[in-house]
Amino acid sequence: MKPAMRRPLVAGNWKMNGNRGDAARLAGELLSRNVGAGAAEALVCPPFVHLVDVGRQLADGRIALGAQDACADEAGAHTGEVAAAMLADLGCRFVIVGHSERRAIYGESDALVARKFDAVRRHGMIPILCVGESLAERERNATAEVVLRQLDAVVAGSGIAAFATAVVAYEPVWAIGTGRTATPEQAQEVHALIRGRIAEKDATISASLRVLYGGSVKADNAALLFAMPDVDGGLIGGASLKSTEFAAIVAAADG
Ligand code: PGA
Repeated sequence: MKPAMRRPLVAGNWKMNGNRGDAARLAGELLSRNVGAGAAEALVCPPFVHLVDVGRQLADGRIALGAQDACADEAGAHTGEVAAAMLADLGCRFVIVGHSERRAIYGESDALVARKFDAVRRHGMIPILCVGESLAERERNATAEVVLRQLDAVVAGSGIAAFATAVVAYEPVWAIGTGRTATPEQAQEVHALIRGRIAEKDATISASLRVLYGGSVKADNAALLFAMPDVDGGLIGGASLKSTEFAAIVAAADG
């Protein structure tokens, strides 16, 4: 049994997809399918430029609004960046930080991710810290080393108390967008490792920390993943762009 304080969370990461019409349609379909009305918390993270529109549609708060990234700095001369304060002002409650695409394509370091995590918290939002190993790292048995290094960088920067209002997402890079999902046992192993690391510092925070799994979660594999004792929901990419799929994944987390 999972502790009741760990309300399952299913987050849709829309990534860089869709125009305004697509975003409005998708949000509307999720509402008409009653997503977010059950036991699990539902969240969508549209591209920045659609946050205002989607935020208006989701104004009743049943489906939470989140962003995919935030700048580590407060304001000023950072052309092209979006400040955490701006996201909070639009009603975002969550912000993804350290997604593997940001780390791999845009060169984000553990140290930068730790600063972003802090910026999100400073503005009263919940960071979803993504960690995960590449295929090469898994094949040379470096999974634990990589995941703990990514986690420790944030614990060192923000302190353990920050994890009382944070979410961690384990996303093996080899499973993202590849259709190659981690088995429930593979996910559980790393989730337990993450929770154990937090427990070394604070057992209470560890027991309440939500750890999501991400990487090719679909309607037909979600229930088995979410049934694992340390899997508290999912971070969903491709399948979050189809309302039927996303609704079914949230329903799997509703239990
Ligand atoms: P995927 O993406 O579900 O398409 O594998 C997950 C993610 O990148 O968050």
